[in-house]
Amino acid sequence: MPSFSAIVLAAGQGKRTGLPYPKVLHSLCGKPMLAWVIDAIKELSPAEIIVVVSPAHEKAVRELLGGKAALAVQESPKGTGHALMCGIEALKNKKGTILAACGDTPLLTEENFKNLIEFHYVKKSSATILTTLLENPTGYGRIVRSKKQVAKIVEEKDAPPAVKKIKEINTGTYCFELEKILPSFSQLTNQNSQHEYYLTDCIAWLVKKRQKVQSCVLEDSSAGLGVNTLQEMSEAAALLNDRLKQKWMDRGVFMVAPDTIFLDADVMIGQGTVLHPFTSIQQATVIGNHCRIGPSVQIINSNISDQTAVFNSVIIGSKVGSECMIGPYSYLRPGTVLASRVKIGDFVEVKNSQVGSHSKIPHLSYIGDATIDENVNIGAGAITCNYDGKGKYPTRIRKNAFIGSNSNLVAPVEIGESAVTGAGSVVTKDVKPGAVVAGVPAKELEKREAGK
Ligand code: UD1
Ligand code: CA
Repeated sequence: MPSFSAIVLAAGQGKRTGLPYPKVLHSLCGKPMLAWVIDAIKELSPAEIIVVVSPAHEKAVRELLGGKAALAVQESPKGTGHALMCGIEALKNKKGTILAACGDTPLLTEENFKNLIEFHYVKKSSATILTTLLENPTGYGRIVRSKKQVAKIVEEKDAPPAVKKIKEINTGTYCFELEKILPSFSQLTNQNSQHEYYLTDCIAWLVKKRQKVQSCVLEDSSAGLGVNTLQEMSEAAALLNDRLKQKWMDRGVFMVAPDTIFLDADVMIGQGTVLHPFTSIQQATVIGNHCRIGPSVQIINSNISDQTAVFNSVIIGSKVGSECMIGPYSYLRPGTVLASRVKIGDFVEVKNSQVGSHSKIPHLSYIGDATIDENVNIGAGAITCNYDGKGKYPTRIRKNAFIGSNSNLVAPVEIGESAVTGAGSVVTKDVKPGAVVAGVPAKELEKREAGK
């Protein structure tokens, strides 16, 4: 791989999206558009990588990228030519090959960038444009050729009807030999329909100077999609989602109706797992092997172990052990940790609680700030009253306890090992191991002697 430095242009205002924040920060499959571009380029280990940003968005982009790239600020959006110049000024090494890319082409892969750089290197070009052929090229700069050689790039807004018919478009991605392109910047003017300094005009200048300008044609034209509108944003998200689904299908995940499945970039799914319709798996969720997820499930930033089944439920920031049964209509909120073989049933909400193995919360419960040991049964409608309007308090339920239907456990409270609460009890005091309590407030029932 030849050595190169990369400059990514991301200082445009993104006016055409109408978003209240920069379009390059909009998330596609859980990852900001700009991060898709940077991560793909990063895989090729550039000597330097500079992102050109506007002053208004410098802070947000810096937070997003951390140390992944250096930033160059373009004071005002005077056009892509001016933006690249700002990026070049920030380079430590102002020699050799640069890869110039846009922050709004999230579908270009590491492979696409690699092919372009290698093509540029092998052909010994001064400039190489990554182009592609589109059935509908509207909106893109067109590649105008003279005797088969690239002559110039003409923007849609400046194009006469004959040029608009050209189907070969500029993806906005280029390789340049820095020494060759540097003198062109002083020649750029903004005499065009958008009153901008176009990077594309550097191409015509190089051709005029008899420099070698080539085009490298991208075969998968969808990878060249440039995102200027929210419609294109949705198209890009759908294409990225398709790629992610393909990747997991190749690794042994079966999807009953792939069109209805949505996956984020960081998701991991084990072999033999089946995803049923209308399932959305987001952020850094990890799903084990042979799980059954869906229909109608949303899982965010959670861990689901092997052979667990989740139906019609929402799981956020939780850890679910192996062979659990979740749903239908369960809601696991952040801080929930379930051991193996736990059952959480219909209309049950669990928040910031641990549940031991073989324990069951089958129907209509709220469990918050609780620690439930193994083999506990929580009856229908039983809840933890963890909040008194001011503070939140813990509930502890020891192993083998049986919580009767509609019990209210008023925290802080502890239910001892093998203890029982009668249906409808309001438990306000700790219950001793093996004790049976009932009533409002719950009182311990005297043990009857056998036979009486
Ligand atoms: C650009 C190309 C067009 C190409 C298309 C591919 C030019 C003049 N046109 O058009 O030939 O077909 O990309 O998607 O280059 N930016 C800055 N500072 C600026 C202006 C833009 O950093 O002053 C950044 C934007 O944030 C964006 C990229 O440059 O990431 C491209 O700018 P955009 O306005 O989207 O250009 P297009 O009209 O799409
Ligand atoms: Ca664009």
